Amino acid sequence: MSKLPTYTTPEGGQLTEAMLADYEEAGVLILQGFVATEQCQRLREHTLELIDAFDPAEVRHVFSAMEQTQLDDRYFEESGDKIRFFFESDAFDEAGNLRQDKEHSLNKMGHAMHDLDPVFDAFSRTPELREAARCIGFADPAIIQSMYIFKPPRIGGEVYCHQDSTFIYTEPESCVGFWFALEDATVENGCMHFIPGGHRMGLKERHYRGPDGKLLFETLDETPWPEGAEIAAEAPAGTLVIFDGRAPHLSGPNLSDKSRHAYTLHLIDQASHYPAENWLQRSPDLPLRGFPA
Ligand code: FE2
Repeated sequence: MSKLPTYTTPEGGQLTEAMLADYEEAGVLILQGFVATEQCQRLREHTLELIDAFDPAEVRHVFSAMEQTQLDDRYFEESGDKIRFFFESDAFDEAGNLRQDKEHSLNKMGHAMHDLDPVFDAFSRTPELREAARCIGFADPAIIQSMYIFKPPRIGGEVYCHQDSTFIYTEPESCVGFWFALEDATVENGCMHFIPGGHRMGLKERHYRGPDGKLLFETLDETPWPEGAEIAAEAPAGTLVIFDGRAPHLSGPNLSDKSRHAYTLHLIDQASHYPAENWLQRSPDLPLRGFPA
């Protein structure tokens, strides 16, 4: 496979047999034009308003996917049912001040915008998404997390090859990622790359809370990912990328002058068991929700 399966979004989000066969084969499916560019623009503008209202002095926290130790930080650990902002590791100077404005210093926002913010809620729960989730086999889907990824120009960091089921683990496994390009994602600005078929290679790691409460990684399979097998998932704004929780993916640093905003949802099946050891936990006051009927 030299190219990831890429289609124009079908009417109503109803996936065809060919799309589903490709998704099964590759573990990833790219649907261009799933969201109108105006909707992408609206979500970006709304996010900029949320950033405006956020005072970074409250939180001098750095999150980088390259430095997993920060996952220990309570600010991150307790963000499963909140809306919180996480900075790029290079965002602050030695004195602890932001090197550039807030918008261009952020790594991501997470992890419950879809439940706490009406604009994100509406974006995340369209009939088209419900239909796409049904087509790929969800009987009773719930949205467990949302992330807004900023990938700012020049400092947007690299994300190493991983599987999202490592972090969003259920028994049986049911995690699926729905990733939306809110701006054009290219190789230059750090688009995702996938190893097609890699979802059949098993789960390599689990990330969970150990008996002492500390988050840890457990290696389940030490086999390295095949070298050079990853394929770029370039995606114009409005594209939806659906990928299996076991699909290995990575993204390069953003070395360009353009940001690469994206929005991700992770779905799980309500019928599967969600372990109490998973990093992401939610208050019982905020029950999981799927899509409106
Ligand atoms: Fe991921």
